[in-house]
Amino acid sequence: MSTMRAVLLVACALLAVALAKGAQQDREKPASEEIQIPAGKENLPAEQVFKSIEVLKGEPASRLPGMMKAFNRMLGVECTHCHVAGAWGKEEPEAKRTARLMFKMIGNVSQKYIDTKNEVTCWTCHHGGPKPSNGGAEIGAAMAKLPAERQQVIANLNNLGEDKPAEQVFGSIQVLKGLSVERMLRVMGVFTVVLGVDCSHCHVADQWDDDHPAKDITREMLRMVRDINQQLFDGQAKVACWTCHRGAVKPEAAPRLLAAPDFEDGK
Ligand code: HEC
Ligand code: HEC
Ligand code: HEC
Ligand code: HEC
Repeated sequence: MSTMRAVLLVACALLAVALAKGAQQDREKPASEEIQIPAGKENLPAEQVFKSIEVLKGEPASRLPGMMKAFNRMLGVECTHCHVAGAWGKEEPEAKRTARLMFKMIGNVSQKYIDTKNEVTCWTCHHGGPKPSNGGAEIGAAMAKLPAERQQVIANLNNLGEDKPAEQVFGSIQVLKGLSVERMLRVMGVFTVVLGVDCSHCHVADQWDDDHPAKDITREMLRMVRDINQQLFDGQAKVACWTCHRGAVKPEAAPRLLAAPDFEDGK
């Protein structure tokens, strides 16, 4: 857990640096938004300088301002979305506690489901807005325009018995048990949309039951999405593949700016 926390903090710090580059265009901020750390206390643990610290426990106090600014940008909000201005240590409004829960969730799922570090940040889902999208509208539109060839493959497979439970028709259904063949194939179409790929990204055509690395990763991703929605949203499907992938195989962990070479080694 503490490694994951460290990883996340590095991601926030990186983002803060990257964002500072674009800060020239920022309008002047009111003085109340500047976080004062008394001189000489920058390297004390954050909890000795601030009142109500959980996430940053044990980290240098100097990390806090960069993280707060990164939150503003990653969520597209003002400080007061999560704070009562001037009473920063207060545990309200609700969004402050939500932010901590989100932190915890990222730590949990990164450790459990994602090998590579620094891959999931607030940006991955929030993309500069307070309410991440599960892609309902985008997916609906794209499903109506699937390439004809792909629609044909789906139609042919549906002929195997669209109302039957998928696991009675196909040999290696594990996660999607209980879905009808028709619904299971709709999910397959959705996978191609959310990742921007063809069926062949995860299958060898006509050998659908075979194992394939991307197919195995996808099973883990399905479990992860369920896990996130259970942890945070009482099982409501607020987070879906689209929330992170948005039509790309590789989700964006930070604004493109971060990909610039001078930020790559975290300096
Ligand atoms: C997305 C929500 C969010 C936003 C936006 C945000 N903060 Fe925070 N802030 C937090 C959380 C969560 C903590 C507690 C961190 C911890 O647990 O270590 C915190 C802690 C702080 C603290 C330490 C308070 C104390 O005494 O414990 C200050 C000061 C602060 N924020 C100022 C700001 C300022 C200024 C901004 C805008 C530049 C800002 N925050 C934006 C969520 C947010
Ligand atoms: C796995 C995707 C995901 C990640 C990663 C994520 N969030 Fe969220 N977040 C959501 C969703 C979904 C909602 C709820 C949106 C809704 O209610 O429609 C949400 C809501 C919030 C809210 C409440 C917004 C409001 O309207 O007040 C805050 C605050 C927040 N997230 C902060 C964060 C912070 C800070 C991070 C990074 C530490 C983070 N989130 C990372 C998916 C995510
Ligand atoms: C992102 C990866 C991914 C893509 C893209 C994808 N699939 Fe799948 N497919 C899977 C996974 C994962 C399973 C197994 C689901 C389970 O375990 O319940 C599966 C199962 C299947 C099965 C049942 C075979 C079995 O495993 O028993 C068929 C048939 C199938 N897919 C067809 C398709 C078709 C047709 C397309 C294109 C429209 C497609 N898939 C696109 C990941 C993918
Ligand atoms: C919380 C964000 C998040 C969500 C939600 C999510 N993914 Fe991912 N996914 C990632 C990240 C990050 C990676 C890259 C992991 C890595 O490189 O180690 C990834 C990688 C993948 C890969 C491997 C990419 C490749 O090179 O083939 C597949 C396939 C995939 N995801 C499918 C899905 C599917 C399908 C869903 C919905 C069931 C989903 N993901 C939901 C974050 C997410």
